[in-house]
Amino acid sequence: MNIEALKNEIYKLKREKNALIVAHNYQIDEVQEIADFVGDSFYLSKVCAERPEEVIVFCGVHFMAESAKILSPHKKVLLPEIDAGCPLADMVTAEDVENLKKKYPDYSIVCYINSPASVKAKSDVICTSSNAVKIVRELPNNKIIFLPDKNLGSFVKKQVPEKNIILWEGFCITHYKIKKEDVEKAKSLHPNALVLVHPECRPDVVELADFVGSTKQIIDFATASKEKEFIIGTEMGVLYSLKKLNPDKKFYILHPGMICPNMKKNTLQSVRDALLYERYQIEVEEEIMQGAKRALAKMLEMG
Ligand code: 13P
Repeated sequence: MNIEALKNEIYKLKREKNALIVAHNYQIDEVQEIADFVGDSFYLSKVCAERPEEVIVFCGVHFMAESAKILSPHKKVLLPEIDAGCPLADMVTAEDVENLKKKYPDYSIVCYINSPASVKAKSDVICTSSNAVKIVRELPNNKIIFLPDKNLGSFVKKQVPEKNIILWEGFCITHYKIKKEDVEKAKSLHPNALVLVHPECRPDVVELADFVGSTKQIIDFATASKEKEFIIGTEMGVLYSLKKLNPDKKFYILHPGMICPNMKKNTLQSVRDALLYERYQIEVEEEIMQGAKRALAKMLEMG
């Protein structure tokens, strides 16, 4: 089936099933194009919780669809490619959290949304890259364990120096590719450009940036800026909205390897199949669901 025919079938099935399609900023261009809402993890989790549609096709990775299901357990949440995972999310287990709690009983656990539901269930509150600093700052406890992303954790630590923050050793394999030297090289090639990076980048990369934020915050910053050139330190899917919203501005990606292999798994074909066959349905065990919902709801309340 050609692209136009596929798109038309997606729109038809979407209407028939009264479904909502949401896409993360890292999805391939064609998928972002057919989505009702495109955004970062925080924005999409809010959209899914607030919208009335009973069927949600989540074009992203597993933990994102799982979070949508936890916040709206009565809805049918579909992930077009069931093996679209997140290596960072898999770097911590519920057992690890249990052990940390035993070792540090008076610490609060702040867990990045890039984590499995079983880990969320054992955490005090969830955060995303757009609200991590605010959540850590506003928690009454000064002793925090931040997991699983050590780079986002280091960024938070810098912004909230008054708190005692223990980091976990997780990291995003895509953002980790960017080195300090890449930023220095890009700056010398484009001396007038501002450097905008995601906080999942290494601390010495974040150090050199003019702006650090979530994918949506990067897009909003570049769109609002009077500057004309930007060096982008995150997955290249963000270029879709950056270019669409700013046809007169120039964007240079920091590293040619900024492609998340999991985010790129969803295609128009798999979105169409998700709608047609109502697959792959995300389910969460009841026991895990309650705890994870409490921690996610606390993020929405605070963030
Ligand atoms: P955002 O919430 O910034 O979109 O980040 C999601 C993510 O997984 C980044 O790698």
